[in-house]
Amino acid sequence: MSYSTTLIGRTIGKYEILAVVGGGGMGTVYRARQVGMGREVAVKVLNVELSESDQFVRRFQREAEALAALEHPHIIPVIDFGQESDFLYLVMALKTGGNLSHVIREGNVPLEDVGRYIEQIASALDYAHLRGIIHRDLKPANILLDEDRNTFLTDFGIARRLGETKLTAQGTVVGSPTYMAPESWRGEDPSAETDVYSLGIILYQLLTGRAPFEETKTARLMNMHLFEAPPSVRTARPELDERFDAILSLALAKDRAQRFHSAGEMAKAVRAALKNRPIAPAAAPPPAESDKTLILQRTQPTPPPDRDARLRPPTPPQAPPPAASPPPPAAPTPLLAEDEPEPAKPRLDNTRLLIIGMGAVIILLLVLIVILLLSR
Ligand SMILES: Nc1ncnc2c1ncn2[C@@H]1O[C@H](COP(=O)(O)OP(=O)(O)O)[C@@H](O)[C@H]1O
Ligand SMILES: [Mg+2]
Repeated sequence: MSYSTTLIGRTIGKYEILAVVGGGGMGTVYRARQVGMGREVAVKVLNVELSESDQFVRRFQREAEALAALEHPHIIPVIDFGQESDFLYLVMALKTGGNLSHVIREGNVPLEDVGRYIEQIASALDYAHLRGIIHRDLKPANILLDEDRNTFLTDFGIARRLGETKLTAQGTVVGSPTYMAPESWRGEDPSAETDVYSLGIILYQLLTGRAPFEETKTARLMNMHLFEAPPSVRTARPELDERFDAILSLALAKDRAQRFHSAGEMAKAVRAALKNRPIAPAAAPPPAESDKTLILQRTQPTPPPDRDARLRPPTPPQAPPPAASPPPPAAPTPLLAEDEPEPAKPRLDNTRLLIIGMGAVIILLLVLIVILLLSR
């Protein structure tokens, strides 16, 4: 970012550069004023020598157009893009609440906020995935916040695709190892599940303040992502429900076929776990217990043939009509929806009654025999 501050005071296109607001491997992001409109925007100026590649510029334009077409409440709107002398730039809405890595650094993120962040990010991911766009570099620094702590995804697609061309040659790290899914380490094409994995790492960080796999040596870190199970979140935050570990084991499954189908599905599971958490903090009433057991069963390492079977809410929603067990009012979550009624108890009581009854009859008969013998 050698030139980062040198642009301050200059006007690029219709944008008067005011200050640096951030920067990453791809470029520097500035707060700028849109001339004639009076509004402030964010202008990201890419670190690249334009003259080096026409192909690069065309690719950038395609990407920028694709991003500009994304309209979602939790995706940063792209307002404009262009090229000025040696610079390629992208103009976005300016968000002034920092990014999610600041939130994680502060620590002790309230659980309600964790749920809200995950839901918002997941809705943005689902929206993009449906349109065939994979983020590819999902991480807290690419999730911006406004003053009300709403989240906005940024850096969509661009980082990876541009990185594939020129920027890798300049030594830019493509992808962020802490968040990289096993398939990315193996160099396979990313899919929606690749973003789900990164979202799993972010969830882990929001809950514990730490990433599940922390290691400075890249080879060792790669090994952890490829082969090691994440440590329980309850080690760092013992008060957390076991269900968070179950959710994370699905989000961070090594085999992407075993992961959540979509980010939204994962967010639903998080919401379910959060919803139930405050209901039974001390006493352990039957609904909470059966919830836990069911989820633990689903997350046993023996992988079921189809990932649907692991966590998906019942395929025909509320299909099993025999939900006639004592239904607790507070268990309407997808994770728990497959609970089965347990008709075993009444049968046990009857058997016990029968045995007691027969015992009594035998004792009576014995007493009668003794009386008869004595009376002779
Ligand atoms: N629209 C924006 N409004 C405010 N800050 C932003 C905006 N876009 C990016 N930033 C800040 O700049 C940082 C880097 O932006 P990003 O687009 O991720 O660049 P890079 O591709 O270099 O990683 C972000 O983490 C954030 O702090
Ligand atoms: Mg970034």
